[in-house]
Amino acid sequence: MPGLMMFKLAIIMIMSIQNLNPGESVNPKIASSNEDPFDTKLITRLANEFYSEFKRAGVPVSSDKSSSKNGNGLSRGYPGSVRPYAPEVHPDSQENTIDEAFGSGEHSPGSQDSFVFGEPKEEGIRGLSTQKKAISPVFDADYVRRDFPALHQKVNGKPLIWLDNAATTHKPQSVIDATSKFYSKDNSNIHRAAHALAARATDLYEGSREKVQKFIGAASSKEIVFLRGTTEAINLVANSYGLANIGAGDEILLTTMEHHANIVPWQMLAQKTGATIRVAPINDKGELILEHFASLLSSRTKIVAVTHVANALGTVNPISQIINLSHAYGVPVLVDGAQSTPHMPINVQALNADFFTISGHKIFGPTGIGILYGKASLLEAMPPWQGGGSMIKDVTFANTIYEGIPQKFEAGTPDIAGVVGLGAAIDYLSKIGLPAIAAYEHELLNYATSKLLGISGLRLIGTAECKASVLSFVIDGLSTESIGKHLDQHGIAVRSGHHCAQPSLRRFGLESTVRPSLAFYNTYQEIDTLIDVLYQLPRK
Ligand SMILES: Cc1ncc(COP(=O)(O)O)c(C=O)c1O
Repeated sequence: MPGLMMFKLAIIMIMSIQNLNPGESVNPKIASSNEDPFDTKLITRLANEFYSEFKRAGVPVSSDKSSSKNGNGLSRGYPGSVRPYAPEVHPDSQENTIDEAFGSGEHSPGSQDSFVFGEPKEEGIRGLSTQKKAISPVFDADYVRRDFPALHQKVNGKPLIWLDNAATTHKPQSVIDATSKFYSKDNSNIHRAAHALAARATDLYEGSREKVQKFIGAASSKEIVFLRGTTEAINLVANSYGLANIGAGDEILLTTMEHHANIVPWQMLAQKTGATIRVAPINDKGELILEHFASLLSSRTKIVAVTHVANALGTVNPISQIINLSHAYGVPVLVDGAQSTPHMPINVQALNADFFTISGHKIFGPTGIGILYGKASLLEAMPPWQGGGSMIKDVTFANTIYEGIPQKFEAGTPDIAGVVGLGAAIDYLSKIGLPAIAAYEHELLNYATSKLLGISGLRLIGTAECKASVLSFVIDGLSTESIGKHLDQHGIAVRSGHHCAQPSLRRFGLESTVRPSLAFYNTYQEIDTLIDVLYQLPRK
């Protein structure tokens, strides 16, 4: 392997362990160590130290074979979601137990007496075994499904099987109720009036901001900006941070597997400024080629924007390594979290992400609401993107003094009911617990993958070692559209098309795939039905 690539690999390992900020250099203890940074023994030792942290916390990692035996372990691991189990980096969570990080009931790592995934403490939370001393807990998707009214309908005479979760998710009754209650009782504009309903609406709105803060482990609720979704969040960063910091000759580093929402805003910025887009490639499994990514970083790179989970391929990116490596070059990283937040726990501080985006409708909340997380220091330095009411302290015709963060980025009347509904979705998810969801979905994904591979002529697109939720495929001799229609006739909703990720499909010589995508309310029986219906596809 060429020397430069070896050096960058060593840096990746060291950065991963040290969790550096942009501009910070490698820990002098390691940098000045007499040990040769190219020595594989050193890299192995550092990697072991890195993973032992999670083992101590009882988190299964990819090398921990025993963890997958009971069917509940993350047998291949979710690299980007592993860090959140080490909450000590969060100032507010210094005293947190791991239980709190799991966010769900009575989990106690290593204890034989407690549930691996936590036991619901409050009524109305479905899906987890309620037996006090269960040794092998079972995630009861059938039970959880009762919370989702839209799942209980027939389509084309068949029970609906919703496998289009990467596009959008259905809403639990608690989210529907919260939104409806807001309009029937609490409806008011926020922040601006002295009356009771304004106070109630403001409390609900700001209460949701605090829920989001906890949900993603942000240091402050000021770092949470409410927007329409991931698309708007990335556009905000491109137009505000980007226009202020990126100019002619600078580079914006993306990857082949990005959603159009994480390509087009950067392209528009590049066209405005004369900056260049660089693209880190993926391999035949749909995994980022990390060495190549590393080789594209340079002093010209001004931002890295990368998806956490790829929506067309399901690849889970090694986001900690990507962030730490980028930071070693002083480059901030925007993580597109649209497809990771529904499936795995997130802690933005543990990841050390600079920006992180979320779409509410993909995490069982309302459409039209989403989140930009940004480190306070970055958001404070950024100019507002849109002007108007709510984002100002004082206006004259000569000048305007802006509000601080996050209001500076929330011009006009926001989607207040959407924010309230999003808060309810976060409550719901937190009570079930993302670790439980991640583990269940992982097993379901493995099950579906092995069944799909039995279908003759079927080719899975996206076979990364670390995957979440998505099963993109094509079948020889059949158009993706005809497969989608056949499934729809049997009540099965999947997406067939380019999934707003044309460059990633073209990497595989394709214009479209069929894409079933999972959520925690999907069942093994639904997968069996999907497979049966695929076997019934009319073939020539
Ligand atoms: C990875 C990814 N990024 C961004 C988006 C855009 O999200 P939204 O349409 O909610 O803004 C999506 C939506 O499918 C996505 O999957």
